[in-house]
Amino acid sequence: LRPTHRLLSCPGTVAADVKREEQSSRSVETGSEGRIPKKKFSELQKERREQAQRTVLIHCPNKISEKKFLKYLSQHGPISNHFFYESFGLYAVVEFCQKESVTSLQNITRTPSMDTEAAIPFKSRFFNLKMKNPSSQTSEQSCIQCSNHSPPSSKKLSELLCYAESIDDQLNTLLKEFQLTEEDIKLRYLTCSLIEDIAAAYFLDCTVRPFGSSVNSFGKLGCDLDMFLDLDEIGKLNTNKTSGNFLMEFQVKNVPSERVATQKILSVIGECLDHFGPGCVGVQKILNARCPLVRFSHQASGFQCDLTTNNRIALKSSELLYIYGALDSRVRAMVFSIRCWARAHSLTSSIPGSWITNFSLTMMVIFFLQRRSPPILPTLDYLKTLADAEDKCIIEGHNCTFIRDLNRIKPSGNTETLESLLKEFFEYFGNFAFNKNSINIRQGREQNKPESSPLHIQNPFETSLNISKNVSQSQLQKFVDLARESAWILSQEDKDRPSPSSNQPWGLAALLLPSVVNSVSLAKKKRKKPASERIKNLLESIKSSSPENDTNTNGK
Ligand code: GTP
Ligand code: MG
Repeated sequence: LRPTHRLLSCPGTVAADVKREEQSSRSVETGSEGRIPKKKFSELQKERREQAQRTVLIHCPNKISEKKFLKYLSQHGPISNHFFYESFGLYAVVEFCQKESVTSLQNITRTPSMDTEAAIPFKSRFFNLKMKNPSSQTSEQSCIQCSNHSPPSSKKLSELLCYAESIDDQLNTLLKEFQLTEEDIKLRYLTCSLIEDIAAAYFLDCTVRPFGSSVNSFGKLGCDLDMFLDLDEIGKLNTNKTSGNFLMEFQVKNVPSERVATQKILSVIGECLDHFGPGCVGVQKILNARCPLVRFSHQASGFQCDLTTNNRIALKSSELLYIYGALDSRVRAMVFSIRCWARAHSLTSSIPGSWITNFSLTMMVIFFLQRRSPPILPTLDYLKTLADAEDKCIIEGHNCTFIRDLNRIKPSGNTETLESLLKEFFEYFGNFAFNKNSINIRQGREQNKPESSPLHIQNPFETSLNISKNVSQSQLQKFVDLARESAWILSQEDKDRPSPSSNQPWGLAALLLPSVVNSVSLAKKKRKKPASERIKNLLESIKSSSPENDTNTNGK
């Protein structure tokens, strides 16, 4: 199904903005982004946020006439954009041209009266549309097209990959199929904006911002929605406006530490979401974690949400990853493929534990791309040297400064294909001296490990921390084994690629399907003698890394 993404007549710049945005997101896919100036992360966030504030979410009856629906809503003002989607019912996301239209709609909306239960009269931007006379409307119903925000099935993905023309084409196809759609991104910002309305009942002028893979350009359809409750802006808004000899401060309650403040705030917001938040279910307060959070499901959007506060560095990490993702069209294609590969082999999981995380995998890809010759990505230290005074950013004593204007970073002269990069990635990490070395995107070179965790990836901003401290030796070994096996499979590819009509998984498809990986590789191992010394060595290394040799992760 094609997404319904329609621009209705709208005054001003909104329609043009949407068009420009579409062009620039398309250009990322085609790799022609060099010619279009790219927006700063903060500019994009501001625009999306402002759009979301003019947007409402409506649960609709299944049989509805789209035309009548839009005509009815247009009484409150012009609509700049709308789409429908399905998630336990039919939902519409309607973006008005002006914020006042939302207030106008709220003013004619009533709180439902219940027979057996009682309603909490919280007036949000999430509505339920009822038909006054359903039978008279059904006859003229138009077929509503729904936007799809679920990832492709493994069968469909496998077909798409098998029919691709090259491994490069496969990586780009995977990216196109899994990346967040325009509608999905809008729904993510809208969900944050709806939660912000609830939090604002306590903290006037607070902001709820999405971060993590929803905004760093590495999000796969279906990924969680990380939210940051930003309370810092509140105080800052007014400090510039003060004049004269006096300074006004709010009377506040004091608590022993930032952590306690965070816990108290999240505890109350968690209660609020649980009791009053329309569509918020399964609220869990996880306040004793290293980074306290409230986890819940936003039923109407289908997003699993993690709400944190006092987590500004994570927002800065998202901005950094966004910059890396936008610098070269190969970056996102590589990260998506590695993330999918890891998921397919259960190297990553949605349950927290001793496995590697998507965040760590992204860092590994960035590091690998910094190590190419010539480098595909610059080091973080280099991005820091390009920064100007306005980019300066210190958070909790950590220097988080880097250039934020993407257009001032020179593109790489490296012309390697995705196929070659993928193969090299697996070889590089299949033979990385994890026992000795740490991965460090700030300097873009291997460094001695400062502590003994099996996998050490330096946190780019809090440089004394290891973002992969949780990873166990056996999980790391599994990663190494699979990387070696995948390198071997790819090195065989050149020789016996099946014809598309044979329907046999090849290239990336062969790497992604666990059952196929094993059978294809085993079949090939039986059938073929290694053709070169390099392959022979790879085979040796696979043998030597059997489970009994679990401690050997240095690849030597
Ligand atoms: P998904 O798996 O698609 O959700 O990727 P993600 O990047 O959103 O990861 P996740 O939801 O686990 O975390 C959200 C964000 O929190 C990340 O993008 C990072 O900015 C930050 N983060 C996650 N794990 C760590 C960590 O171990 N250390 C630090 N400093 N930040 C982390
Ligand atoms: Mg996430």
